[in-house]
Amino acid sequence: MAAGNITLTMIKPDAVRKNNIGPILGKINEAGFRIRAMKYTQLTKAQAEAFYAVHAERPFYADLVAFMTSGPIVAAILEKDNAVQEFRKLIGSTNPKDAAPGTIRQLFAEDVQNNAVHGSDSDENANIEADFHFAKTERF
Ligand code: CDP
Ligand code: MG
Repeated sequence: MAAGNITLTMIKPDAVRKNNIGPILGKINEAGFRIRAMKYTQLTKAQAEAFYAVHAERPFYADLVAFMTSGPIVAAILEKDNAVQEFRKLIGSTNPKDAAPGTIRQLFAEDVQNNAVHGSDSDENANIEADFHFAKTERF
């Protein structure tokens, strides 16, 4: 099956608090992604729990939900050939200690929880996550 051309990102509350929306969007643009949808919003507890439901049994889930609702985020649908894999390459490993030089997490993340950005992990989840954040009328 051909790789999909969209992925879903969130600029997380830690990066928003540090005034890094602009620099992170700059990296995304430089890497050749096109912005198909974008919003500045704050997740409710119910929304964060639903978005990360796959991690519900993990020990970090409650802290993750608290963190993701602690301030506003920027959600966006990004388009590029092979978007999911290309974006995971651009953001680097979950733990910034392991993230390659020049990746968004290496540059902007604090630690494994406060790691600056989200990126979808599969084409299927990219579509689910895009639908989670955006109505059809909000996509261009
Ligand atoms: O975001 P990514 O797909 O790289 O990682 P994940 O394994 O899907 O975990 C989702 C999010 O949970 C991470 O981005 C971190 O914010 C958080 N997390 C955490 O707080 N502690 C961990 N040990 C692992 C993940
Ligand atoms: Mg993930």
